Amino acid sequence: MTFLVANWKMNPQTSREARHLFDMIVDLGRLKNVETIICPPFPFLSVFGSPKSIKLGGQNMFWEAQGPYTGQVSGKMLKDLGCDYVILGHSELREYAGESDEIINGKLKMALKCGLTPILCLGEREGEEMGHVLSAQLEKCLKDVAKNQIEDIILVYEPVWAISSGIVGSGKPCLPDDALSASLFVKKTLSVLYSRFLAEKIRILYGGSVDAQNAASYVKEARLQGVLVGGASLDGQEFSKIANSLNDLT
Ligand code: 13P
Repeated sequence: MTFLVANWKMNPQTSREARHLFDMIVDLGRLKNVETIICPPFPFLSVFGSPKSIKLGGQNMFWEAQGPYTGQVSGKMLKDLGCDYVILGHSELREYAGESDEIINGKLKMALKCGLTPILCLGEREGEEMGHVLSAQLEKCLKDVAKNQIEDIILVYEPVWAISSGIVGSGKPCLPDDALSASLFVKKTLSVLYSRFLAEKIRILYGGSVDAQNAASYVKEARLQGVLVGGASLDGQEFSKIANSLNDLT
């Protein structure tokens, strides 16, 4: 199964537009070889009804279960709104909200407790050394995550410099070969932290300037299990093309 995750970020601006975009892509749930996961802003999670085949995810959540945490959203709330997934550790939150690996670790453990599949983003910024950053992020974000839970996590290699809309970095996609090297590095690190067996089982996606032209190359050439899409997921036609190109691969 190939994973296609749409991160709508803080778009669109009205529930009417969100509904329209969702209606354009809802049929992708029927594709046999692709699991399509839509991560809209929180206020839109409830405007799609209860879609059966297409999956929903949050773009973030809080590390505590409930209580006096103004402005936060709990894992249980996401579950209640029909989410199966939650994106964690996105570089934009690291950048604008000061999220540390320790904070992400707390959120990840709470997500697992709530029965959500964390989609954990990792990646270096422009000028940083990929291996150095990935090993530190993996070690800290996965601290105290048990062996039997590691398989429930989806990892995304999303180098900050490759994000299309990013203020930092070139916004150019990473080459499939480099995404492959990063994923091999992730597996090597995980085999030290856990075991080779588990490292081989973990699902790794690529994110950063993915579009209909390049999406399939990350699965075919880089041998990854899918892609995380930002900007191109806001265009229903482009996103459908991405989904179909992935579906045709297997
Ligand atoms: P773009 O696909 O717009 O580069 O965004 C990537 C991203 O940040 C997805 O989480």
